[in-house]
Amino acid sequence: MGLLGCGTVGGGVLHLLRANAAYLEARVGAPFEVVRVLVRDPEKERVKELERSRLTTNPDDVLGDPSIDVIVEVMGGVDPARDYLGRAIASGKQIVTANKMLLALHGAELLDRARSRGVDVAFEGAVGGGIPVIRVLRDALAGDTIASLSGIINGTSNYILTRMQSDGLSFEDALKEAQQKGFAEADPTLDVDGGDAAHKLVVLSMLAFGARLDGVSVLTEGIRGVEPVDHAFAERFGFVVKQLAIAKERGDELELRVHPALVAKDAPLANISGVLNAISVEGRALGPCLLSGRGAGDLPTAVSVVADLVDVAIAKKGGTAGQSTRAIRLAERKLSPTA
Ligand code: NDP
Ligand code: HSE
Repeated sequence: MGLLGCGTVGGGVLHLLRANAAYLEARVGAPFEVVRVLVRDPEKERVKELERSRLTTNPDDVLGDPSIDVIVEVMGGVDPARDYLGRAIASGKQIVTANKMLLALHGAELLDRARSRGVDVAFEGAVGGGIPVIRVLRDALAGDTIASLSGIINGTSNYILTRMQSDGLSFEDALKEAQQKGFAEADPTLDVDGGDAAHKLVVLSMLAFGARLDGVSVLTEGIRGVEPVDHAFAERFGFVVKQLAIAKERGDELELRVHPALVAKDAPLANISGVLNAISVEGRALGPCLLSGRGAGDLPTAVSVVADLVDVAIAKKGGTAGQSTRAIRLAERKLSPTA
């Protein structure tokens, strides 16, 4: 495999591949070999599991290496990640990515390209860190239709709100902690202004509602405006302040929004603290189903990325590469966003 990026998530992936090597080899039937690792700065200190001779700053060393059959993209952003994945797909390499921004803006396009080449695009790490919500929407709930989704899907903003509300920390100090713990995006304004949650909501909605939503706009309000006094009032009246992401199908319209909200203290989402995320899926036949767990950070996210690697490797061995991509069916539905 080739790794594009070796920061928080990439480091977690290398750690997990090494720590669980014997178990993974037994499961897949062959060892995972990390052939090349693309970064910007080859001098930076990295996880001890990285063999420095594998590092490169030249994308051609990864994308043009015929011995690499799977690309793990954990560099983030749209450019140049979109171009690199396009090149990887064109040469028949399977894809694992945790890049929700790229998927929210170009996911349907990427899946179309991959499908036409029989390539897998697996992205469990893109939403909810270690929570297997992509598989639940793609596979486990394939027999149902989804009426709505709601939840807490940005670990950094939930961490900040929790530290402000429970421990009286300032916004700035709480954000600094979240960054030190590796929860925040390289550009943390995406976390605190709601953009990251909006990207994830689009990815979840693409799967839940089978709709092509590339670049769709989401009503988005971040948590910068939430002040200590808001937490104090919420507390007095039996609420907590949470950043919620909500998607609801209403006929031919899809309501997509991300904003701070008051949540009653005895509601399940009120107890989702710190870096935890929770996603409630309302299936029309199933009813409500709540998934929760650690939504950001190196190891929880690496669990999802490595699970995707295992799936892709097993599918490839069985001669069915492209199976996760084929399982995602996007209809040409007119679901126009409303607020
Ligand atoms: P980091 O900033 O920690 O790591 C990014 C890595 O990509 C770095 O190694 C960086 O190189 C490399 N990189 C970035 N741009 C380029 C480029 N143009 N050319 C070569 N290398 C590049 O990010 P994270 O690991 O936190 O996140 C990676 C992805 O995973 C993002 O899409 C993010 O949204 C997603 N994600 C993150 C989670 C988290 O908890 N952090 C959870 C779920 C998903 P260098 O080190 O040299 O700077
Ligand atoms: N920055 C993101 C968050 C990482 O805080 O939720 C996980 O996707």
